[in-house]
Amino acid sequence: MRILRTIAEVREAVREAKAQNSTVGLVPTMGAFHQGHLSLMRRARQETDLVVVSLFVNPTQFAPNEDLSTYPRDEEADARMAEQEGVDILFAPTPAEIYPDGFATNIHVAGLTDVLDGASRGAHHFDGVATVVTKLFNIVRPDVAYFGQKDAQQVLVVRRVVRDLDLDVRIEACPIVREPDGLAMSSRNVYLDADARQQATALNRALDAAQALHDGGERDADSIRSAAQKVLREAGIHPEYLELRDAETLEPVARTTRETLLAVAARVGTARLIDNHVLKASS
Ligand code: PAF
Repeated sequence: MRILRTIAEVREAVREAKAQNSTVGLVPTMGAFHQGHLSLMRRARQETDLVVVSLFVNPTQFAPNEDLSTYPRDEEADARMAEQEGVDILFAPTPAEIYPDGFATNIHVAGLTDVLDGASRGAHHFDGVATVVTKLFNIVRPDVAYFGQKDAQQVLVVRRVVRDLDLDVRIEACPIVREPDGLAMSSRNVYLDADARQQATALNRALDAAQALHDGGERDADSIRSAAQKVLREAGIHPEYLELRDAETLEPVARTTRETLLAVAARVGTARLIDNHVLKASS
């Protein structure tokens, strides 16, 4: 595996691979790898010839009060794990390589980013994501890019950028990877002490309770939401949001007759965690 720091080096490596008719898979990450990231790399390894993983803690998607300075970073451990997964290139640029002096462009996806994490973290968050992901697509020119479904809204935003800007890349959303007790894997789980770690299991239990009601035939969004809310309340968790929204448009829903995203964000201990289930109309 090669660790590359500059855009020019990545462009050259990709140019050479494409000259051999190789397909290119990209896994964009902010590092601190866990099994969720590794599942994306494995999928990319199975489906594409040249696997590029980007490792860049993107400053523009953090608000000033968020955890940019403390975000877990361990490039050596990440590089070892990526190598074991058969990754070809780890692209780990400096902030100055991605945002040189005078950088002034911002990609804003209207509508989809006004709700859920966009409302709770602020508009800058998805602007930062959309802008850096577009740059990564232009640098790596992947045929396929792999994202985790845990960031369901991010997947929708990236798909919209690809559609609206006619970017020539296929987006694959990969299933959420969970700990044995159901907690969704996240780089931010390292912030949880033992009590918070236990409390955090309530997020998926809440989603499970709502899902069970839906699977039993309930379609009223308020009733389904209440089932999840009850589990969170009993665990002492006050969510930033707990909402049912159309899984494509993120419009609020009164009934779960179409595919519906049930999404939650909550502060547990010092960590801000998100999780979601997609309620299928047919289940
Ligand atoms: O999901 C993430 O880790 C980040 O939001 C991404 C897609 C790498 C952009 O910085």
